[in-house]
Amino acid sequence: MIIAANLKTNLTREKTDKYINEVENFLNQHGISQEVLVFPALSSLNLHVGKVTVGAQNAYPAQNGAFTGEIGNEQLEEFNIKTILIGHSERRHVIGETQAEVVKKFNFYKELGFKIVYCIGESLQIREAGDKVMMNYLSSQFEGIDLEYENLILAYEPVWAIGTGLTPTLEDIESLHLKLKEQCKAPLLYGGSVKVSNAEEVLALNGVDGVLVGGASLNSDDFCTMVKYAQNIENNK
Ligand code: 13P
Repeated sequence: MIIAANLKTNLTREKTDKYINEVENFLNQHGISQEVLVFPALSSLNLHVGKVTVGAQNAYPAQNGAFTGEIGNEQLEEFNIKTILIGHSERRHVIGETQAEVVKKFNFYKELGFKIVYCIGESLQIREAGDKVMMNYLSSQFEGIDLEYENLILAYEPVWAIGTGLTPTLEDIESLHLKLKEQCKAPLLYGGSVKVSNAEEVLALNGVDGVLVGGASLNSDDFCTMVKYAQNIENNK
């Protein structure tokens, strides 16, 4: 399974280093064989060698150049970062990234062989418009994306469930994941208000290959507990 922490715009460089080391120690002490990804704020990126894979929450689709306020692959290479989050709803809806921009990023980092965690998800308004509208909307977020890309990981994150404490029902998550899997065979993570109290049951669902955790990942003990849930589920298969 894949357990990912999106730290968003939280933690300083020092706190992030401490966090990653705590998670790394946990993985080693508990013989964790699951894939664990951590996405720190860009200013907290650092070289990390170990079981934890550090990825970038965002980067501009360029090696380097005149893109004020952005970082490119040159800055990622400094820390040996080969994993990136693309299409997160906060970038789409808060920052205003369009599907065309998302596709450009996807293609650039795909060409470089990055592991890409590609996020999709619907707003509450779309969800309430019914299944057909919702599936069409989610499919529109696949436009221009190579769903066969070998280093692709998909993350389904309903926008209305992010940071709100709300989640779809377990039945809804499972049925939606199984539908998305008909369109794309890549590992599929669920994200949106995943926390210690619900992670185990979400991870146990059919069609869920892992979780992408925001707020509840900020506490390393909580994040490690969720990693352990995933390990236990795999061990019991
Ligand atoms: P929360 O876990 O805080 O709802 O955030 C989910 C998310 O956006 C992960 O990318």
